[in-house]
Formats: sequence, structure tokens, C-alpha cells
Amino acid sequence: MEGYKIKFEPLGLTGHCRADESLLACAQSAGIGIISLCGGKGNCQSCKVQLVEGTFSKPTAQELKAYSRQEIKEGWRLACQTCPTSDGKVGIPSTSLTTTQRVQTEGQEIAVPPEPVVLPYQLKLKTPSLTDAQADADRVLKAINHQHKLRCDNIDIGALSQLAPQLRSWKWQCRASVREKELVAFGPWPSRQLGLAVDLGTSKISGYLVDLDSGQTLAVNGMSNPQISYGEDIISRIAYATQSAAKAAQLQRLVVKALNKLASELCTEVKAKVGDIVDSVLVGNTAMHHLLVGLPVKQLAVSPFVPTVSRALDIKASRLGLKFAPGAYLHLLPNIAAFVGADHTAVLLATLNGLPKETTVAIDIGTNTEVSLIDQDGITTTSCASGPAFEGWHIKDGMRAATGAIERLRIVNNKIQYQTIDDAPAIGICGSGILDTVAQLYLAGALGEGGKMDEKNRRVRRGEKHLEFVLVGNKEKKDVPRAIVITQQDVREIQLAKAAIRTGIQALLEANGYGEEKIKRVIIAGAFGTYIDVANAMAIGMLPTLPPERFQQVGNAAGTGARLALISRAKRAAAQKIVSGIKYIELAGVPGFSKTFMQASYLGKYRLKQGKREKIG
Ligand code: FES
Repeated sequence: MEGYKIKFEPLGLTGHCRADESLLACAQSAGIGIISLCGGKGNCQSCKVQLVEGTFSKPTAQELKAYSRQEIKEGWRLACQTCPTSDGKVGIPSTSLTTTQRVQTEGQEIAVPPEPVVLPYQLKLKTPSLTDAQADADRVLKAINHQHKLRCDNIDIGALSQLAPQLRSWKWQCRASVREKELVAFGPWPSRQLGLAVDLGTSKISGYLVDLDSGQTLAVNGMSNPQISYGEDIISRIAYATQSAAKAAQLQRLVVKALNKLASELCTEVKAKVGDIVDSVLVGNTAMHHLLVGLPVKQLAVSPFVPTVSRALDIKASRLGLKFAPGAYLHLLPNIAAFVGADHTAVLLATLNGLPKETTVAIDIGTNTEVSLIDQDGITTTSCASGPAFEGWHIKDGMRAATGAIERLRIVNNKIQYQTIDDAPAIGICGSGILDTVAQLYLAGALGEGGKMDEKNRRVRRGEKHLEFVLVGNKEKKDVPRAIVITQQDVREIQLAKAAIRTGIQALLEANGYGEEKIKRVIIAGAFGTYIDVANAMAIGMLPTLPPERFQQVGNAAGTGARLALISRAKRAAAQKIVSGIKYIELAGVPGFSKTFMQASYLGKYRLKQGKREKIG
């Protein structure tokens, strides 16, 4: 085929680009979803890409308007304006990818040498006879210690219960999976050992099926946390669980059932069985952790918010009702303090390589948002109740990131441009779209800095209860079943959510005696945080105003950290070391907390200092 071969990273997909065809068109015909709010006219700047290798057409006037000279020099271009003139390589930042495409890049692999806690050994056994009728277990233990110079002294009782028929059907040759001095599973020889890493979030559960011997991730999947029907945030979940032991057990059962379903789906995808999972690692906030393990949670919700346990735990998965290999363990990474659980430990494990020279802030945005400030002196951490508004909850037309959700929105020359997931007719707005909407309405003057909607705006109407801004009218777009609006109340919800996050960042800065300018790197983790438009997040004051290049959106780093701990014994030890050096700050106990929170609810760019707000620009 004539034309040029363009490799799109990090997806690793290659497109064939005809001469004079734009990168956007090339990516689209290769099945890659790049956001293109203006449909390729060059005026929305949503199709940002970075040229890595090869030669390309000269920057157009629109690109020179979109980027500084330095940025052009660094390869930043608009995909709809750039045509290749040779084979090449192009990077697509996560913020330019449509939601459907993003799942392929979420929680990227970090190469670490596989050093799993469970190791496979080939066992060749003598067939029993009348002169050698020792018990199967003795035969296995003797053989493994002799053949591999080990000191195993135990076989898990569940694994043992299946051993007799297995050994006979495998003709006395098998794979023994050994953890420390215990044999936890058996399989035919040769056969692979699988591991499962789980990020158990308040709203979502993500699972990663890993080949323990190569360290490679074989399948990834996610699902909603079914406990959500019993409380959408941690506090209401705890309140439900503390009503009775039966209710706590019910929450535990729900999540165990979900984990079994997730594991089964992942295994089916790679033609394996859940019984092939010989090790697992789970991370989650302290409440999710305690509810899963069956620990009391009442004290977690009352000052001084003390967890029952912080250190790492190793529990037989079968004890919790998880249907992995009978002897498999579930390793729970250490919690930090109060609500800051092992999920944040995992984020730090995935994103830090020792203490950084430059002051770094790591934020994991979720229903509960964890924030850490890290520098050479150590790690200070806090947690803020940002609530589920960014998941689309409590937002009139809010929805999860699914087909038809508005995921990006811009207002250009008073015209609303938006992109929906899968380019389907708009049916609601997901988190990234909600954040864009509030920022763009503020920048367009339809919202004041206090969040008040401008009643005189021609798109503002009076709804059933509140004023509402019509984003998509059903008369404007025939394929849109009903109008999609953002209400005054929705704006208030977003103000509260973003104020919680900004207050958390501010509390850490003040605890260390730093101003915002001291922050040299901001790591934003979590499914929502990864795809937010950072410029819009700064425009509403959710994040401090800093040069854009200081922000790094890293995907589901909690999931990545869980995977690292699954494949590497050294990473499990590193997680314990990280936690032992953390200083935790309880936000509610910070002097001037309410003042800072109130100021942080304002829209716009500003600096905060001791509960005061100083506007920027
Ligand atoms: S699609 Fe490229 S700038 Fe709008």
C-alpha cells in the first residue's frame, strides 16, 4: 500500500497514512479514537499528539496558535492539522484518547524482574507399589525437598484434598506451586501459574490477571462495586455495616461474589480456570479492606479514625470464599492510616522510585481522594471526601463513562462543541465531561466565581427545582432523545468535590511550610483523574495553577502497584518501607480547615494561603 506507516503509542497500533492524509484520519481508519470536538477544523485543540519519529508537514496557523514555539519544538501538534511525509511514530496523550480507547492504556505495565512469592517446581514422582506405599503427601514432600533442595513441610489442606486423583491422572509428574515452605497448588507439568491483582475501589473494582512466571498481564477487566447499593461513599457503607453483624457479612459476601465473578471472566478470556490462580494481591481503601477481611469498621468512622490493622496481611483466599487454587493466599498491601488505605500505598509504589529530589504531589482521585506530598524529607499524606459527583452521581444528567456520555466539552465562540463516547447520540455527561462543562461555563461567563448561574444567559432556563444550562437541546440535535442540562445544584456538587481535593493539597503544603510554587511535579492517578483536562481543572481551582508540563496523568496506578506487588517479592517489601515512613494528617483536625474549604469552593485560578484566596490573572 502506498503512503506511510505510522505507529501510534502507547497503544502500539500502526496506521497506514495516505499522502496528504492527516494523522487524525489515519488514526481513525486504524480504529484509534482521538477526540476531535471540532471535527478536524483545527479550532478545538482536543486532538493533541506528540511527534516522536519521522518527518511531518509544517505547523499550520491553527497549530501555531495552539502551541508555543517550545512546544512545537518538542513535537506537540494537532492530529487533524498534521500530515506525515515519512514513516514515523506518534504519541497520543491519554487526554486525547476517547474513553473506549483509553481502557487499552489504563494502568500501563512497568517492567520489573518477575520474582513471585509463589514459585513453580517440576515434580517427578515414583509410582507407588506394594513395596513403596507411602502416603501421597509424604511422597510429594520428600520428592520436592530432595529434587529441588527445598525445606517444604506443609501442603495446604485444600490442595491436599484434590491431590490423590490429580497425581494419578497426571501420571506422577506435576507442577507444585510453593510459597515459602508450603505447597499451595498443583497442576499438570508444564502449566502456567496465574496471579490476580485487584484494586477494590468504593465504586469500581479493577482486576488484572497476570502470568506469574513472565510477569505479563494477560487480561484486564473492571466492574462496579456491588456494595454501592448499600451506600455510595465510605461513611454510608460503614454506617450500614455497623447496624449488625449480618449486614457487615452481607457486604463482605457481595464483594467476594464480585471478585469471584471478575476472576472467572478474566480466566475465561485467556482460556484458563480460576483454580489456576495461585497467588493474589488486593489493594483498597481502609474501609473496603476491613469489610472484605471481616474486620470491624465502626471505629474507622469516629475520630481519631483508627484502623484495626495497618500492616500487610496474608490470608488464605479460600477463607474469604474466593475460589482460586485451594491453597492460594490473598496478600493485602499495608494501609497507611484512617481512610488512606493500601490503594494509595500501591499508587506510591507504582509512581515513586525512592524519595524524589523535587517536591511531588501524588493525587488519586476517587469517591475518596488521597493526596501525598513527597520530597527528600519524606511523605505527608491526607485523605479528602470528594464524593461521587465526578462519577456522575448526584448530577442530574450525570452517568458513568459509557456509550453516549459526553466525555469532552468546549465552548468556542459561544458554540458548544462536545464529544460523546463511541460518537453515539448524547444521553448524559460522565466525570471528565462534567468537569469540562463547569470550567467552560465559568470561562464563558455563564457561571460566576461563586458558581452562580447567569440567569440572563440565553441557554439558561428554569428547571423543575433549579436553574439549568442547556448543553444539548433536543431541538438542536434530532438524534438526542432529550435535552441534556447542567443544573445550579450540579455546579454546587462539583464545587464541593473539587474544594475537598484542593483543600487536601493545601493542607499538605501548609503542613510542610510550602507555597504552591514549590510543587515541581503533580502525579494524577485514578480512572477519572487520568482523563481530566488539567487546564480545565486549574480553571475551576481544583488544582493549583502550575505550568502544564508539571502534571503527569498516570492511569490506574493503584492497579499497577497491586500488579507489581503480585509479581515481585521486593516490591512487597518496598511497600512496607513506604508506609512506615509516612506522616498522616487528618484534614478535619487542620486549623482553618473550614475557611480553606470555603475559599477552595470558588471557581477560577487562585492561590490559597492560611484560608485566604488570592486571584491569579
Ligand atoms: S479536531 Fe483537531 S483541533 Fe479540533
